[in-house]
Formats: sequence, C-alpha cells, structure tokens
Amino acid sequence: MGVTLPAFTPLEDSLFLTLYARALDNRRAHSILGDAEADRLVDKLDYDFDQFHVDTNFILNVALRAKKLDQVTSRFLASHPDAVGLDLGAGLDTRVLRLAPPPTVDWYDIDFPTVTATREEVLPGRANAHVIGADVRDSDWLETIPTGRPAVIVADGMMAFLTQDELVALWNRLVSHFPSGEIAFNSYTRFLIWTAKHARGTKSVADLVKFPGMDDARAPESWNPKLQLVREILLSREPEVAEFPPGWRRYHQLAAHRTAWSRAGTIVVHYRF
Ligand SMILES: C[S@@+](CC[C@H](N)C(=O)[O-])C[C@H]1O[C@@H](n2cnc3c(N)ncnc32)[C@H](O)[C@@H]1O
Repeated sequence: MGVTLPAFTPLEDSLFLTLYARALDNRRAHSILGDAEADRLVDKLDYDFDQFHVDTNFILNVALRAKKLDQVTSRFLASHPDAVGLDLGAGLDTRVLRLAPPPTVDWYDIDFPTVTATREEVLPGRANAHVIGADVRDSDWLETIPTGRPAVIVADGMMAFLTQDELVALWNRLVSHFPSGEIAFNSYTRFLIWTAKHARGTKSVADLVKFPGMDDARAPESWNPKLQLVREILLSREPEVAEFPPGWRRYHQLAAHRTAWSRAGTIVVHYRF
C-alpha cells in the first residue's frame, strides 16, 4: 500500500508527469539523470502513473533538462558557498538531494502549500533545505528568504503555467531581492507551446499552459536591465545526446545541425544578474 496523497489541483498534479519521467529515465539502461530517489518515490506513492502516455523522447528531454539545470546550479554553488538556492515550482523533484548543497548554502523549494506539505512527508529532509508553501506570483514569500546573499534560481517545468506578465513581475522581484545571482529555466518557443497543448504526452497539462512562448532567448534582457543571457542551451546539441537510444540520437543529431531545428526541441535558458 503506497503513501496516500491529498487532493491536488490539476496544476499541482502536473508534478507527477515530470516526476514519473525522471523515474522512467532511471529505469533505462543508460539513464541520463540517474535519479534513483525519483524512482523510489514513484514506487512509494499511491498514484495512477499509468494514466500518462509518456514517450521515450519526453523522458529523455525531462531528464536532460533537469541535468542541465543541476549543472548550472552546482557550478554556481561551487563558486558561491554562501549562496541561497531556489527551486520555483519544485513539485516533488529531488534536485536538492541530487545536488546535496554544502551546509553553508540555504536551499528553498517553493510550491503551493499542498505540494510542499507532501514534499515534507515523502522526501528525506536535509538540515539546510527549506520548503515554502506559496504561490510564486505572490510577493510576500520572498521576504522569508535572506537577502544580501548571491542566489541561484531554477524553475523546471513551471514557467509554462505563468502568463508573460506574471513571469516578468516574478523575475523583477527576484532580481531586486538579491544582490546578484543566476536564473535558469526550461523555456519554450511559440511552436513548443503549441506542441505542448496538442501532444498526447502532455495532454494532462494542455489547458493549464498560459505562457505564449519565447522565440528569442534575449527577450528577458528587456524585462530587467540587470538580466544578461549567459547561454541558451539547446538540448539537441548537448553531449548527452550521444547516450540517447539510436533513433532519438539520430533525430537530435540531425536537429543539432540547424539552430531553428534545435529550437524545436527542449531549451534551457540561463541568465545572470
Ligand atoms: C510540471 S510541474 C514541475 C514540478 C517540478 N519542478 C519537476 O520538475 O518535477 C509544475 C510545478 O509548478 C508548480 N506551480 C505552478 N504554478 C505555480 C505557482 N504559481 N506557484 C507555485 N508553484 C506553482 C505546480 O504546483 C507544479 O508542482
């Protein structure tokens, strides 16, 4: 008998799709992320994961984008041991366990209260890991996070659920709260947003998507003058593609030849401020 879960809203429920994808990645012979804790969690929860029709490409993309966000975060923490880390819309992602930040770092997983309460129940805690149950569109939750320390902020699978105005307002609040930092999130072109709304694998979240899509990774530089693009990471061009199963490996290697084709796949964007 698995852990019984509270009732989630459809928006909160979207966390199970990405959690499941990372668990399935872990079950592959050549896992991209190696998230054994996600796999254990899926086994432990009383949830109908079979309802999701996730294809191999979706699994690979979810795992690889998580890995890229982990890499951005761990590099930042290695050079800023006094940092704070924020995972916005953290769901039941085990990022803080994968990264195991040093005790000098304070890590915050932020999501709606039902989700963070579940996180505390089902995931192992760490002394320097905190959860904040809040809607990221509100401003008061940020006041509980120390200011005056560099921040690394990631959002994995969350930004599609915000309107562009909500997203701009959120980034502006973050940039003014911390003296310096980095922000990274998985982004979507307009075409990807259209795909997410129509693909079978993401059917469960199609009606919740509010973000219109972003075709130019430099667009956030005009949201706030302090934001500077570090890198647009086109997953088709990342070295891990060599570990994909042959069919998907060839597909991504072909897409990698053209920037426009690569942008039709998953993108992680990385900024500093
Ligand atoms: C697709 S899930 C991704 C969860 C997690 N980051 C992962 O990769 O598994 C999106 C998450 O964003 C959260 N979310 C969406 N809008 C939010 C908001 N306005 N405030 C807080 N959390 C939000 C949802 O509750 C959900 O947990």
